[in-house]
Amino acid sequence: MADNQAKLTVDGAGFDLPVMQGTTGPDVVDIRKLYGQTGMFTFDPGYKSTASCESALTYIDGEEGVLLHRGYPIGQLAEQSSFMEVSYLLLNGELPTADELDKFTYTISRHTMLHEQLARFYQGFRRDAHPMAIMCGVVGALSAFYHDSTDIADPEHRRISSHRLIAKMPTIAAMAYKYSIGQPFMQPKNSLSYTGNFLQMTFGVPAEEYEVLPAVERAMDKIFILHADHEQNASTSTVRLAGSSGANPFACMAAGIACLWGPAHGGANEAALEMLREIGTPDRIPHYIERAKDKNDPFRLMGFGHRVYKNYDPRATVMQKTVREVFEALNVQDPVFETALRLEELALSDDYFIEKKLFPNVDFYSGVILSAIGFPTTMFTVLFALARTVGWVAQWNEMISDPAQVIGRPRQLYTGPTERDYVPVAQR
Ligand code: CMC
Repeated sequence: MADNQAKLTVDGAGFDLPVMQGTTGPDVVDIRKLYGQTGMFTFDPGYKSTASCESALTYIDGEEGVLLHRGYPIGQLAEQSSFMEVSYLLLNGELPTADELDKFTYTISRHTMLHEQLARFYQGFRRDAHPMAIMCGVVGALSAFYHDSTDIADPEHRRISSHRLIAKMPTIAAMAYKYSIGQPFMQPKNSLSYTGNFLQMTFGVPAEEYEVLPAVERAMDKIFILHADHEQNASTSTVRLAGSSGANPFACMAAGIACLWGPAHGGANEAALEMLREIGTPDRIPHYIERAKDKNDPFRLMGFGHRVYKNYDPRATVMQKTVREVFEALNVQDPVFETALRLEELALSDDYFIEKKLFPNVDFYSGVILSAIGFPTTMFTVLFALARTVGWVAQWNEMISDPAQVIGRPRQLYTGPTERDYVPVAQR
């Protein structure tokens, strides 16, 4: 806590408000006592200027295009680390030693199977259900199957449920995919890496031995790292808000998945590739740029713009490079990549996008890679949810272990009718 204070004047009366300082980033005016002192609330829909919590996990400098997990730059983690290592880092605060990483990886791999009855749960969904709908349902249902890890006051329960969530999410995601294409579920194989196992469960079939291509495994692992956590975004805040009431972690994660599904958030990767395919060829780009700028047209450039980044999203930089690596490894080409590159070039030289500081975000190129690997667009947000689970879990743990944690309960500016008498229906 810094010594400096912010001063608020209301009707001539001055109120001192403490100013808090983080390790980096903007200072924060502490308004917790504002209502008691002044009888007033603050108004900030969308939390554009409001910090909802303290957190030591992830830091973003949106102006500079910086993203750090526990202090480590995302570019370094994506190029040099692994998803398991980043998961350990997010959960525990420090990079693991080789032994700690082995132990953590082993523990996660021992929780990958789903209760057999849960496998039957899938049969209740329509064959053409969106896999995100299945994810929401199945993850929420986990709390009905793993009662022995839902006491949130017990650190051991929290540890086990965290491991279960990280471990089971690839199995749940792969099963959602298999269900949608009518193929048998594949069981996890603990000899494979976290990401290799996910690929095996998704693309393998019982009739053949599935060979995990190292370049695809590495690209997928990078994509998971890039999505692992992202500070107090909408789905993470949803998980925290749900968790603040004491709800069990499986229910909280289902809430996070529901929030992530929206096209302004995780659903943008699906929407971005669909948009690029609709644009089709570079000559049609100017028309779509004009549409994105037209305030009477609801069309937006999907995969562009961000609440926090007013510079190039550092995750998009890695994504763009990974597209080339995957294309090379799989010996594929997709004209949609050329369209994406040209769209980026044209948008970044257009005054509208320059003035509003709209740059490609993580979702702009991710769909191109995922499609080259073989995922249908409906699986894109599922992959985001799979990778973000560790972030949600780490943030949820941070919140629950904080002794100052209270239930989240925003206030409002009421604009409805003032008190009036009920009129019986015959007299209306
Ligand atoms: N295309 C065209 N105009 C845009 C776009 C876009 N993609 N994004 C923002 N704008 C305009 C917007 O119309 C507004 O203009 P004005 O000031 O004239 O009203 C201005 O830029 C500011 O936009 P905003 O909607 O007030 O900003 P926000 O911080 O509330 O929204 C956003 C951020 C990500 C929802 C928005 O940029 C957007 O809808 N982008 C497309 C969807 C997308 O790619 N989402 C993925 C985000 S990254 C992954 C994740 O977090 O899940």
